[in-house]
Amino acid sequence: MAFRWKNDLKDCDVTDEAVFLNRRQLMAGAAAGIGLAATAGGRVGAAGELVPNAWEDITQYNNFYEFGTGKSDPVTYADELTTTPWTVTIDGMVDRPADYAFEDIMKAMTVEERIYRLRCVEAWSMVVPWNGFELADLLDLAGVQEGAKYVRFETLYRPEEFRGQRNGWIDWPYVEGLRMDEAMHPLTIMATGIYGRDIPNQNGAPLRLVVPWKYGFKSIKSVVRITLTDEQPVNTWQQILPNEYGFYSNVNPNVDHPRWSQATERVIGGGLFQPRIPTLMFNGYEKEVAAMYEGMDLKKFY
Ligand code: MTE
Repeated sequence: MAFRWKNDLKDCDVTDEAVFLNRRQLMAGAAAGIGLAATAGGRVGAAGELVPNAWEDITQYNNFYEFGTGKSDPVTYADELTTTPWTVTIDGMVDRPADYAFEDIMKAMTVEERIYRLRCVEAWSMVVPWNGFELADLLDLAGVQEGAKYVRFETLYRPEEFRGQRNGWIDWPYVEGLRMDEAMHPLTIMATGIYGRDIPNQNGAPLRLVVPWKYGFKSIKSVVRITLTDEQPVNTWQQILPNEYGFYSNVNPNVDHPRWSQATERVIGGGLFQPRIPTLMFNGYEKEVAAMYEGMDLKKFY
């Protein structure tokens, strides 16, 4: 199954990692000769379903510059971050601006499982079995006012714990943004878990955005502030390198990064000799999201 739309899964129904791994092994064994195939859109099993990466791939190869720029810095220094207590300030153009305690958010939300492709702008990819809730439900909790056009997100700023924030080449905190229709889209979630476990610090504990049709850098981690606004936010990477990273950042194999091609991707966990696979328009979610960008020049709005 490529991903699930809203369904009636409860936390406790989420398939645990052992079952996933077991299924992978079973499939690899049973379908010897077919096994796991890497095709456009990620690794797929014998029945054509997306196969999530192993826990180790997902939690040990990360981008989280607050911990450092190396892929293993996040897992190495993850313990230096404390995530309790945690509050998310929701403010700006909302009816109920407040500091929402993470526990209260969790009580109000329905957590479900979503198996999504993750495509980094650096041209590598994974498939992640997230647990989370729709961002739209959280925004409804705060009551979005008419006239709000964008959502701006901020990561925690705490240099005592985030060693990467002790240097100044990024104007911390990390900021991201979405247009309102993107934020309200049912594919857009706030993830709080992976494989049915709490999301590890290196993946953005205790809650991070996941927008599967956009490059990974849009999926901002460890969110502490969500602001509804009528102005398009300037996101961190756009601020650092505006010619290379834009506001929209939709996965698009036809629009190359100025320094490399976006036509193909390297699948993490696929082994040294696995060939690169073609990248899909909107990361494979074209059917669900293309209508939002109808008539837009995607080369201009990269
Ligand atoms: N969020 C914050 N706050 N800081 C970051 O450096 N990196 C982004 C994104 N969210 C980043 C972030 C990038 S470039 C990617 S590809 C994804 O997180 C990686 O998510 P993962 O490490 O869980 O795979």
